[in-house]
Amino acid sequence: MPVQTVRTTAEMQQRSEALRMSGKRIALVPTMGFLHEGHLSLMREAKARADVVVVSIFVNPTQFGPKEDLSRYPRDLEGDLSKCESVGVDVVFAPADPKEMYPDGYQTWVEVTDVSKGLCGEKRPGHFRGVATVVAKLFNIVRPYLALFGEKDYQQLQVIKALARDLNFGIEIVGMPTVRDPDGLAMSSRNAYLSPSERERALALSRGLRTAHHLARNGVREVRELVQAVRKELEAAQVREDYVEVVDAETLRSLTTIEPGRPARVLVAGFLGTTRLIDNLAL
Ligand code: PAJ
Repeated sequence: MPVQTVRTTAEMQQRSEALRMSGKRIALVPTMGFLHEGHLSLMREAKARADVVVVSIFVNPTQFGPKEDLSRYPRDLEGDLSKCESVGVDVVFAPADPKEMYPDGYQTWVEVTDVSKGLCGEKRPGHFRGVATVVAKLFNIVRPYLALFGEKDYQQLQVIKALARDLNFGIEIVGMPTVRDPDGLAMSSRNAYLSPSERERALALSRGLRTAHHLARNGVREVRELVQAVRKELEAAQVREDYVEVVDAETLRSLTTIEPGRPARVLVAGFLGTTRLIDNLAL
């Protein structure tokens, strides 16, 4: 079956309602498009777990800051549709215009408080409010029984878990491992911004995380030491640090020491020129 494209919110709501009425279980994979293997891994898992897979493609303006890359965010709807089709996606919801999601008079916002603090939440004010709002809207439009998100955006995943739980959406949130290029770089639509030399330097992020992971596995408990090891890699590659932190894997609160039996996560954000990349790893 070729993938079906839906361009309006009203039609998407009608379709998902009809699917539910016929007893189909829907899985939703929200994206901003310019799809890569990371996105496709979520879709394949969705396919395995549900009767119908809906992928949304929407570059959500409300999660971009005024000085961020909204206007130049890469887009390729044609290419995205054929990728979706290649993994058996049933429906692509690609709102034809931001006004489909945010019509004139729009004034309702969803805020997830605690896990939105710190890390990207601190560096990108308003970002997670935009994410939580658009995802809540997508949940209501599609009403899936399952939705899949990548650990690549680890704080976002925790925000969405809290959102689904706190607002009683009754949707299972599935987190999926980060898909990387063979040399370790986490796949991201924003990697398209990188020049060849920037891409080479960007490897410092994953290298730094792996070093921290290795140190922790060999008994280093002091977060200061782990953070320092990541910073060293960033500095050597002239990646401008946005943050490097080790946090509790669930609450995302900063840690000063890691303890056995308490899952911790190391997260990094850095700039290569004007391109901001993020990555993270379990410790
Ligand atoms: P986007 O960056 O397009 O990512 C869509 C989904 O793909 C997210 O759940 C993200 O974590 C996941 N993803 C991205 N790169 C990945 C990788 N290398 N491996 C595994 N999963 C990966 O995240 C967003 O869009 C938006 O914020 C969105 C949730 C759609 C709300 O607008």
